[in-house]
Amino acid sequence: MKNLFDPKENSLDEDVEYDYESRIVDRQSREEDADTDVGLRPKSLEEYIGQERAKENLKVYIDAARGRGEALDHVLLYGPPGLGKTTLSAIIANELGVNIRITSGPAIEKPGDLAALLTNLGEGDVLFIDEIHRLPRQVEEILYPAMEDYVLDIIIGKGPAARSIRLPLSRFTLIGATTRAGQLTQPLRDRFGVVLKLELYTKEELTTLVRRSARILDVEIDDDGAWEIASRSRGTPRIANRLLKRVRDFAQVKGNGIVTREIADYALRALEIDALGLDNIDRAMLSTIIRFYDGGPVGLETLAATIGEEAVTLEDVCEPYLMQIGFLNRTPRGRTVTRLGYEHLGFPYKGNAAKGSAEAAEKQQITLFD
Ligand code: ADE
Repeated sequence: MKNLFDPKENSLDEDVEYDYESRIVDRQSREEDADTDVGLRPKSLEEYIGQERAKENLKVYIDAARGRGEALDHVLLYGPPGLGKTTLSAIIANELGVNIRITSGPAIEKPGDLAALLTNLGEGDVLFIDEIHRLPRQVEEILYPAMEDYVLDIIIGKGPAARSIRLPLSRFTLIGATTRAGQLTQPLRDRFGVVLKLELYTKEELTTLVRRSARILDVEIDDDGAWEIASRSRGTPRIANRLLKRVRDFAQVKGNGIVTREIADYALRALEIDALGLDNIDRAMLSTIIRFYDGGPVGLETLAATIGEEAVTLEDVCEPYLMQIGFLNRTPRGRTVTRLGYEHLGFPYKGNAAKGSAEAAEKQQITLFD
């Protein structure tokens, strides 16, 4: 049988095809997530697992806004994909007792699109804009007075006859979500009163989450089975829920329907997800740096071109987790693989003396989302 975790078998050979599109540990939302995710989504802060610090603060702001009968200040949520930013926004609206409109940066192409959304909001409503860093510039500019003064500045007519009029808007709350806070323009960033960073989940939190999802999906699961799935979900609820559904299929067809550690391990091996949740792309990223660039440093664009993957995918999806588990460092000169990364893939670590110690690399490390 093929050893899924042998680096030689996961090397960048010509004949190895990486199926990036159907990557099961992809944090981006997919259509198949939609049906079950709706049922799995918590409706209140109480039900929402993890993100304790963000939750505690939010609870205070929500109670205060409700107490004053005012709209909540605008909120910026940032962090890697799949951590529940949309879920949290829907909870905020729910706890405030208002409506939510959900859209995304790339979907708002023209100022008129945003104007239509804003003028339809009721008093206190929430407008959620996912991937807010991808809003077109002219759209962003009409957002400033809308956020600050709850007015819409629109230009009527063209040329010398053009004039600007101000339309009042309901007092609303904008919730912006982004994987890349650093890409927001300063004026936009400054207009958010509340900025919350979402963190990758711990295994304990994900175990609780998997058990909750299993209960809702009516899947029998034991403690070890839940822990196994949680351990291999890259700190991400969306992945945990997706893996649970796939493991459930294996339990039904290959087992007795109960999700145990053994069946979870069997299923996840079949899906080529290793003990730490790394898949082919993660392993390709690490092994490419080791084999082609002597452990690094190598620039992200060069690395992306070598693997044949988009740099943003590596940066937003692979790196946060590889850095969290201490396999990868980001240094000003590029990416380097740590001793732990070598060891996990089974490559001998020859040290990195010429390039500075791992400790020095750590000091230079750039924090992804700050
Ligand atoms: N589904 C997605 N994120 C969740 C969370 N934090 N708690 C419970 N269910 C979730």
